[in-house]
Amino acid sequence: MESAAEMAVVTDLQDILGKYPNAGRDALIPILQELQEVYGYLSRDMIASVGECLHLPVSKIYGVATFYNQFRFAALGKYHIQVCRGTACHVKGSAGVLDDIRQILKLNVGETSQDGLFSLEVVACIGACGLAPVVKINDEFYAEASASKLERVFKTLRKEAESNE
Ligand code: FES
Repeated sequence: MESAAEMAVVTDLQDILGKYPNAGRDALIPILQELQEVYGYLSRDMIASVGECLHLPVSKIYGVATFYNQFRFAALGKYHIQVCRGTACHVKGSAGVLDDIRQILKLNVGETSQDGLFSLEVVACIGACGLAPVVKINDEFYAEASASKLERVFKTLRKEAESNE
């Protein structure tokens, strides 16, 4: 028996497929993009459902999806961290900032922490070049990001999450 969540995925998938009559392999990327837009990530169940609909093996879909950096396979964390890697931020050391975040949170790009608090993504210019290097967490921009600043921010966010439990 399918769970309510699985049934919702199937319904959404049918709606999306409805836009691609005779959907075949060429519809795969747009379908995955739309599913990710709705759910924020692609779960195993979603990929399996897409495979059934398009008559494609799951391994093939993973192969295609992992080739493109745009797809996520885990739900976003409560705090979604976006590190800008645009030119202005790059010049101001965003590669180092990204490394610092990975070390502090023990998290790789595209992953979500085990406790579900943090997820990490690399993005192109987010239109705040004057604040470079800039990190965005949910809707908040953090200017001239550095390891020490971000460590304080992460601590505060953890506390905030604990107090909301
Ligand atoms: S390059 Fe980072 S905000 Fe523009």
